[in-house]
Amino acid sequence: MEKILARQVMHMTVSFDHGCSEWCRFGPICQITCKCDGKKRDLTFYIILITIANYREIMKMRRTIILSLALCALFFQGAISLSGQTAHFMVFSDPHYYDPSLGTEGPAFEEYLDGDRKLLKESRELLIEALVRVGNSDAEFVLIPGDMTKDGTKVSHEMLAALISELEVKGKKVYVVPGNHDINNGHSYAYKGDQEILMENVNPFQYLEIYHEFGYSEALHKDGYSLSYVVEPVDGLWVLGLDACRYLENEPGHHPITDGAFKKETLEWVESVAEMAAQENKTMIAFMHHGIIEHYQKQNRFFGEYVVDKHKRVSKQFTSLGINVVFTGHYHAQDITKKEWNNGDFILDVETGSLVTYPCPLREVKIADNRMQIASQFIESIPLYPENFVEYSRAYVHAGIAGIAEEVMMSMWLKQEDAQKLSGQIGDAFIAHYEGDEPAVDRYLDVSGVGLLGRLMILTKRRLIKELHTDLPPADNDVVIDLSTGKVIE
Ligand SMILES: [Fe+2]
Repeated sequence: MEKILARQVMHMTVSFDHGCSEWCRFGPICQITCKCDGKKRDLTFYIILITIANYREIMKMRRTIILSLALCALFFQGAISLSGQTAHFMVFSDPHYYDPSLGTEGPAFEEYLDGDRKLLKESRELLIEALVRVGNSDAEFVLIPGDMTKDGTKVSHEMLAALISELEVKGKKVYVVPGNHDINNGHSYAYKGDQEILMENVNPFQYLEIYHEFGYSEALHKDGYSLSYVVEPVDGLWVLGLDACRYLENEPGHHPITDGAFKKETLEWVESVAEMAAQENKTMIAFMHHGIIEHYQKQNRFFGEYVVDKHKRVSKQFTSLGINVVFTGHYHAQDITKKEWNNGDFILDVETGSLVTYPCPLREVKIADNRMQIASQFIESIPLYPENFVEYSRAYVHAGIAGIAEEVMMSMWLKQEDAQKLSGQIGDAFIAHYEGDEPAVDRYLDVSGVGLLGRLMILTKRRLIKELHTDLPPADNDVVIDLSTGKVIE
């Protein structure tokens, strides 16, 4: 919070009573340390001085200043902090529920699966296992950051909602936001024999109706321009469910837009929520479908539609508003990444992999004493595969990714032998990233024995393969983080 204030006023100059005309480093609550003599001075007096000396500038930037002053007020009540705040919750993401009544066999369904990487036949059993785990835990609530269904068929949404409502019966609160597959999806198919049959999908109003009890009905505030809302599942903690999906631009009969972008009005709403949170001394965390920062270097170049548009500006804005932790999904990977600015500000993007993609994870999060402990667990068996589900699901996603890559390369006249060798390594790289805590590899790409065309073809993907194998700090699966600094506690 001190840093927010520093940013708001750093361009203003004021002569202090002791002759220092430079704005100075903020120290503990209610104190600043002046550059000129290193002495700590009371902040209250200088806020008044700055207000008087910069009246015109303040009037020009009223909205921002109102927020800052609201935050200032907290200096007298205690800073925004998670100290004393406790919360215990779970996260699972991208369940992509596919109701079995839509058809799980036949040539049309098998053909669809050939071009996908999701465990759709198993989605119901995976979801039920996740719900059992949440239900048996001591968690107070669960976050589901979008892609509730495979391609937004209404029947899948309704069946999923019925299943997760059982958690609410057990006293667990469930909060959801939409993903790119969920609303106005033109590919909401059922599969019967060799036919794909277009089924009823849902528009935003129907989505709201179906998921009414999972955040929206108890929201303290809602955005009028998206399906974003705020809830307070435990005293003092505001959870912002944010919606950056572009379903309003989807066209009937077409694949939905994968990319995410916040509307200007939604960002203004987030700002007003932060203002209220400051006034009411609430701590904020957020969850949303798209990544708020890149999870590996150049992700925005290779897969820009998985990181929210203008992520640099938006992540900085969130940080300055006091949103330092955002739970995301979308890329189906277990990955936590931190972005830190020179002044020590930070934001953590805690991405959770998909329930229908190996390693089929869930996260358990405990916040207490300004520390956030994240532990991950993985679904290792389901009734369909009681014994070898880990091997099966790993091989399934590897074959899915490698198969698509191989097909693309062979369509560009690469011989099958070379395509297989290269595509297998692309599969390995994605698996490493999906698992999280990517181990260091001596050699991330082996092109020995591959002909010139193959070497040229893989040239553009070399960097991607390297970055997928490279883990950015902090650790991805099990980690404890000091929320006041963003640093890992060993
Ligand atoms: Fe997804």
